[in-house]
Amino acid sequence: MKHPPARRRPGARRRGAAAGAAAVLLASGAVALAQAQASAAAGCTVEYTANDWGTGFTADVKVTNLGDALSSWTLEWDFAGDQQVTNGWNGTFAQSGKHVTVKNPGWGGTLAANASVTPGFQGTYSGSNQAPSRFTLNGTVCDGSTGEPTDPPTDPTDPPTDPPAGDRVDNPYAGAEVYVNPEWSAKAAAEPGGGAVANQPTGVWLDRIAAIEGVNGGMGLRDHLDEALGQGAGVIQLVVYDLPGRDCSALASNGELGPTELDRYKSEFIDPIAEIAGDPKYAGLRIVTVVEIDSLPNLITNAGGRPTATANCDVMKANGNYEKGVAYALQKLGALSNVYNYIDIGHHGWLGWDDNLGPSAQLLADTADMSGSKSNVAGFITNTANYGALKEPYFAIGDSVNGTSVRQSSWVDWNRYVDEQSYAQAFRQELIGDGFDAGIGMLIDTSRNGWGGSGRPTGPGPQTDVNAYVDGGRTDRRIHLGNWCNQAGAGLGERPKAAPATGIDAYVWIKPPGESDGASSEIPNDEGKGFDRMCDPTYTGNPRNNNHMSGALADAPLSGHWFSAQFQELLRNANPPVQ
Ligand code: BGC
Repeated sequence: MKHPPARRRPGARRRGAAAGAAAVLLASGAVALAQAQASAAAGCTVEYTANDWGTGFTADVKVTNLGDALSSWTLEWDFAGDQQVTNGWNGTFAQSGKHVTVKNPGWGGTLAANASVTPGFQGTYSGSNQAPSRFTLNGTVCDGSTGEPTDPPTDPTDPPTDPPAGDRVDNPYAGAEVYVNPEWSAKAAAEPGGGAVANQPTGVWLDRIAAIEGVNGGMGLRDHLDEALGQGAGVIQLVVYDLPGRDCSALASNGELGPTELDRYKSEFIDPIAEIAGDPKYAGLRIVTVVEIDSLPNLITNAGGRPTATANCDVMKANGNYEKGVAYALQKLGALSNVYNYIDIGHHGWLGWDDNLGPSAQLLADTADMSGSKSNVAGFITNTANYGALKEPYFAIGDSVNGTSVRQSSWVDWNRYVDEQSYAQAFRQELIGDGFDAGIGMLIDTSRNGWGGSGRPTGPGPQTDVNAYVDGGRTDRRIHLGNWCNQAGAGLGERPKAAPATGIDAYVWIKPPGESDGASSEIPNDEGKGFDRMCDPTYTGNPRNNNHMSGALADAPLSGHWFSAQFQELLRNANPPVQ
């Protein structure tokens, strides 16, 4: 029956999670500390590691407490030159002249004996970028000595400071700090007010073969993984996004590989990623992979005789290279015990109709089977790079007005869901019904689905008729649910958070806020990206958004490129608001 336009969204993505909890402390032995020893031994060492690109740098400052356990900590140093901290993580940074003070973050102040913590920061400088030569921890100089007679004996069976090889866990986000991508963080911090969110974890997009080594001198996969270790992060979030014939229902995120280039996808993209992720050095880091967004759903809704079909999706459905590519990625990455594969399930405004959801779940199950086992899949992700509200507070799918169900409103249009959380939870049950493990968890990309600001309704719409009720009360202010490109009026959504609701592993920011979904006019490029008129604010639409205006912001750059005006609007319209 009715299924509208199934929608899609192309590029959008999100992030990670981590709730503010724990993990900064690299576990280290001797936790049964030394309370016995009455005297307060104090001592520390610092490893300062800078990654410099000429005018700016990031640095990790790993401090190890050689003394007794601390209930709070303050690390201090003086810069030798004119270095200036622009933003920091795993600690609260303050700088006065050359003097820098880092206090423990509000969520974690204890530092056990022999434990380490690694605050990091991004900085600018001119001239030379000499490393500081002297650090203090709670006033004690970090020179490796301890003031008191004996160090508390360390249990020889305790591991040293390296993170332990991780055991497989049900929810990789639980209790783990999530990696902050310094490249995104620097761009966010450079925007007015952006510092307030610049320490949020966001997805690292492997969107082309060259991204594995780093594009244009930027960080490659090993750089990110090393930096994650340096941050003491427990989780890093990668987006694996380079399928043959990528983004078949749109143009803005078309990629480098043609529809038949499956072998290159395997050998030049997935194999090298798996090889790096499998380096024993990273065994203690949980690697969340968001696998090929917008691929499998397109085979259901945008191919095979549907009114929304595109020629490119018909090609991909016929050649099977989406399923084969996804299955290969699941198999290679799923073989690594520290990798957690999450497959894309679009969003409620795409697959939320009955005739889309069931077949999509079946296709996901078949593709996972093709990989060798459904256990290669840790879970699924919704709303990546899309704008669907997490929860609609002022109307529910079961409501009706004068006897007419909200499902009959123009906005809902027979969809079964009105928001992402209810969709994710229901989809999870469907997948379990199709044979996935009951332990699967869902991620929801909340990077840009906040819909706050002055346009946000403050209560239900009028009960005059069903459309007035839904349109007056919905917080998702898009012109049509099928609109996906650089949506005007959007705001940052829930901050990344682990285990926020039943069946949900985390709210994440996979699409880095501020990165465009696509150019608003044609821009020649060497990334394979086309011009999709859904990113043009003057466009009047296509069957996939039921011929509505695109709702896109003007003057947008290519997908993935920094779009300052959008970032600033997301910040202004954040919900919850950014303090
Ligand atoms: C683009 C990618 C980019 C990603 C994250 C996608 O739409 O196609 O190149 O890395 O968005 O911004």
